[in-house]
Amino acid sequence: MASREQRGSVRTAVVWDALEAALAGGPRDVVDLGGGTGGFAVRLAESGHRVRVVDPSPDALAALARRAQEVDLEVTGLQGDVTDLVDVVGAGSADVVLCHGVLEVVDPALALARIGEVLRPGGLLSLVVGQRHAAVLARAMAGHFQQARGLLDDQEPVDGRTGRRFTAGELEALLTTAGFVPTTVHGVRVFADLVPAALVDLEPGAAAALVDLERAVAAREEYLPLATQLHVLATRS
Ligand SMILES: C[S@@+](CC[C@H](N)C(=O)[O-])C[C@H]1O[C@@H](n2cnc3c(N)ncnc32)[C@H](O)[C@@H]1O
Repeated sequence: MASREQRGSVRTAVVWDALEAALAGGPRDVVDLGGGTGGFAVRLAESGHRVRVVDPSPDALAALARRAQEVDLEVTGLQGDVTDLVDVVGAGSADVVLCHGVLEVVDPALALARIGEVLRPGGLLSLVVGQRHAAVLARAMAGHFQQARGLLDDQEPVDGRTGRRFTAGELEALLTTAGFVPTTVHGVRVFADLVPAALVDLEPGAAAALVDLERAVAAREEYLPLATQLHVLATRS
């Protein structure tokens, strides 16, 4: 049976692969914008990076503190959001900014501009966002045809809960306009959300085989439109 850890790994293995490869070679100053309860932040701190999490939610920051304490590590939690990011962490204070699952619910151009101010020249942005085509497919398959139709061309959030979705082309345009150079694009959860959970949970070895499959297709352009999320690494020019 798949453990909770294995299920988490199915969802994040592709992101970790790219991130760890990009951050190899010494401790960095990392800011995790909208880092929430610290799923990424604490693991990066465990790898020796100096990590600050900026999040508007006091509850998330409290959970982050507990999570860091459990592994006896220091991760700075700062209450803030996209709008006051520069005041909260300081201009030019980061080698790396993570922005995972946040661009969907904020003004994306503003967020990228603020991230650009916080990053040192040549710094790295790790961006994870919901991908539009997969969201259209998911809604259609669930019988929510009007929602699917609405999401097809609409770049504004269709519903407040999940926020806006992006295509790879839209992301590239947003990043370029904000002065970033995209270096890699990976599809995340190409199959994971299509496979019945019971199959992955109950079939021995299925979770590991699914992670293997996700890794195999992540960089294949033809599978990007099926990915629930896109992970883009970009450098500040
Ligand atoms: C979907 S969660 C992602 C959490 C984490 N980055 C991850 O990948 O597991 C979105 C996070 O964005 C935060 N958030 C919401 N509005 C925000 C804003 N305006 N600026 C920064 N973070 C925000 C939420 O509090 C939440 O922790």
